Amino acid sequence: MNNNSSLRIAIQKGGRLSEKTLNLLENIGLEFDNYKNRILVPCRNYDVELLLIRDDDIPEYVQDGICELGFVGHNVTAESKADVTGLRALGFGKCRLSVAVPKNNGIKTLKDLDGCRIATSYPVLTRDHFEKQGIRIKTIEISGAVEIAPTLNVADAIADIVSTGGTLKTNGLVELETILNSQAELIQTNQPIDAHKSELIEKLLSRIGARQQAEKSRYIMMNAPSGAVERICDIIPSLKSPTVLPLAENDMVAIHSVIPTDRFWEVMEELKSAGASGIVILPIENMIV
Ligand code: PRP
Ligand code: ZN
Repeated sequence: MNNNSSLRIAIQKGGRLSEKTLNLLENIGLEFDNYKNRILVPCRNYDVELLLIRDDDIPEYVQDGICELGFVGHNVTAESKADVTGLRALGFGKCRLSVAVPKNNGIKTLKDLDGCRIATSYPVLTRDHFEKQGIRIKTIEISGAVEIAPTLNVADAIADIVSTGGTLKTNGLVELETILNSQAELIQTNQPIDAHKSELIEKLLSRIGARQQAEKSRYIMMNAPSGAVERICDIIPSLKSPTVLPLAENDMVAIHSVIPTDRFWEVMEELKSAGASGIVILPIENMIV
C-alpha cells in the first residue's frame, strides 16, 4: 500500500508512451521538474507524485496499491491479468497484438499453425487466443526482438505488438490475425483509497475529460452575409447554437461556433459554398461541457 499522503501515479520510464503521458499531465496543468534520471518525481502544484518504472511492472504496482493510478498500454494490463480497474482510454499509443508469419511459407489461417512454435512476449494472451480456437501451440517466451525468431528458426510464427507495421515488413513477416487491439489507458487500484486521494483522482479525471473533449473540437469563426445565417447554422453541428454578431459592414455578420475536429474539412467546404468567408479555425485548450 502507498502510505504516503500524496496520490501516486505509475508511468512508463522511457518508451513509446512516456512522452505522450507526460504531455497529457502537463496539458492538464500539472508541473514537474527534473524527471530525467529520477524514479519518484514530485509535482509542484498538485498533491501527486510520479513513479517512473518499466511498463510491464505498472499493472502489478497498481494492483497492490503501491500506486493508486497507472498510465499503461491496455496490452500490458491484459497480459498481466492484474486486478485493476480501467478508468479511461486515452486515445494515444494505439497498437495491436497480432500473430505474424514469414511471408510465402504457405500459412494462410491460424489453424495452419496447429502444433507450431510461437515466439512472443505475450504468452498469456497468445495461449488464450489459440486455446479458444482449439489450436495447439507451443509458446516460446522472448522479452525483446521477437520478430527475428522465425529467421533464427527459434519459432515458426510470432505474436507481437504492431503499430505502423514497419518492424514486421523489415523482417519479412505478414500479419495473420489480431489477438487484441490496444491503446494507452488510465488504470486504478481496487485497493481502498482514502477520501483525500479519491478527490484528487476525481479532479484529475475531470481535467482529462475536458482535455479529451477539447481535442475532439475546434473553434470556428467566419464572416457571412446575414441572409446566409440560417443555412450556415444548419451546416454547423455545434453543441449549442452558434454566436452571431453583427459587423459594421453592410448586412454582414460574424459567426462563432465549435465543430468536431473530424468533420472539419467537410464543414469547411459546405460553409464556403454557403457564402462564408474569412474562415478561421482555432484549437481549443480545454472544454468543460
Ligand atoms: C513493439 C514490437 C515491435 C514494434 C512494432 O516494441 O515489439 O518491435 O513495437 O512497431 P511497428 O509496427 O511500428 O514497427 P516496443 O517499441 O513497444 O518495445 P518493447 O517491446 O520493448 O516494449
Ligand atoms: Zn515493454
